[in-house]
Amino acid sequence: MMKRKLLFFTMLCCMALSANACGTDGTHQQTTENEITGGSDVNANDTVVSGEGLFDLTTGENGKPPVITLSSGYTMPVLGLGTYSLHGDECINAILSAIKLGYRKFDTATFYGNEEEVGEAIRRSGVPREEFFICTKLYPNEFGHAEEAIEASLAKLDIGYVDLMLLHHPGRNDVEAYKAMERAVAAGKIRSLGVSNYYIKEMTEFLPKVSIKPVMTQNEIHPYYQEKEVREFMHRNGIVIEGWYPFGGRGYTKAMFSNETLKEIAEAHGKSPAQVILRWDLQHGVAVIPGSSNPDHQKENISVFDFELTPEEMARIDALDRNEKHDWY
Ligand SMILES: NC(=O)c1ccc[n+]([C@@H]2O[C@H](COP(=O)([O-])OP(=O)(O)OC[C@H]3O[C@@H](n4cnc5c(N)ncnc54)[C@H](OP(=O)(O)O)[C@@H]3O)[C@@H](O)[C@H]2O)c1
Repeated sequence: MMKRKLLFFTMLCCMALSANACGTDGTHQQTTENEITGGSDVNANDTVVSGEGLFDLTTGENGKPPVITLSSGYTMPVLGLGTYSLHGDECINAILSAIKLGYRKFDTATFYGNEEEVGEAIRRSGVPREEFFICTKLYPNEFGHAEEAIEASLAKLDIGYVDLMLLHHPGRNDVEAYKAMERAVAAGKIRSLGVSNYYIKEMTEFLPKVSIKPVMTQNEIHPYYQEKEVREFMHRNGIVIEGWYPFGGRGYTKAMFSNETLKEIAEAHGKSPAQVILRWDLQHGVAVIPGSSNPDHQKENISVFDFELTPEEMARIDALDRNEKHDWY
């Protein structure tokens, strides 16, 4: 009961913040209780975001990550599979093996050139479409002809609707592209909208210009680039933050996994450094999409719900931050 009250209070706060952030142009889509809590796949048992945007990880199991309720009212697993650099059969097989292991969230983008494979794997899996949460992104060179790009993305995926579409980066015509995405939401083609690589300044400028509040921003986050202030800003505004490159990205993973602090903490729990990183993200309320085509790694990555990092261990990982970005955006 207390949990419900806290949740209701949190939702009211998010609604207030959302209304402030998005302006009052009369087209705001998150201003009624019905839109926040209903008209979608919300189930009271699925609602696992507590105060300050943190996740209730106790509702998850290895192979069954908890789901959170987004500000659009739809639900999303807090852990999914990233598909950057996966193509052809390698991509299809990676997704099929992940589905068998319990993954239901997949992250793709028009830029990755693999939406057809992602859709093919979803259709081939035999798992009902409604069980999946598929995120794709429009690239800045598509912002000038966004309507066409959205249709192309939907056709390539060929899974009926997209659960979440993001603007891949800030850029020229991003507001116009987002408005095209808002029209696609109204037409039932996309369920939720968000952005990627938007930090505090970009988000502050963006929010008053759009009608549907972004449910998420997907940004680079790993132990060497932690984005604490951005994380707290998004949480305060009821926007989910998701980390890309959780292991530092390809070319950096070996060094990351050899970090002495991560190794020690992993050893103390009988886990791997990869699992410790994912658990650290999740305990900070950061959703994760580690990339992997290796079924053993996929299994390891979705098995982070049977241990908990202590406040001291969290603080030790927090102290690894060195503002070291591994990509330009
Ligand atoms: N929005 C953006 O701008 C943006 C930018 C970059 C990435 N992304 C998204 O974020 C996702 C994650 O990023 P990423 O895939 O580039 O980098 P990452 O998740 O940091 O690292 C992926 C690498 O880690 C290895 N790996 C995964 N699990 C492992 C484990 N348990 N033990 C050892 N090695 C492991 C993978 O190799 P194996 O395949 O051998 O497991 C792969 O080489 C992408 O796939 C993409 O969906 C978004």
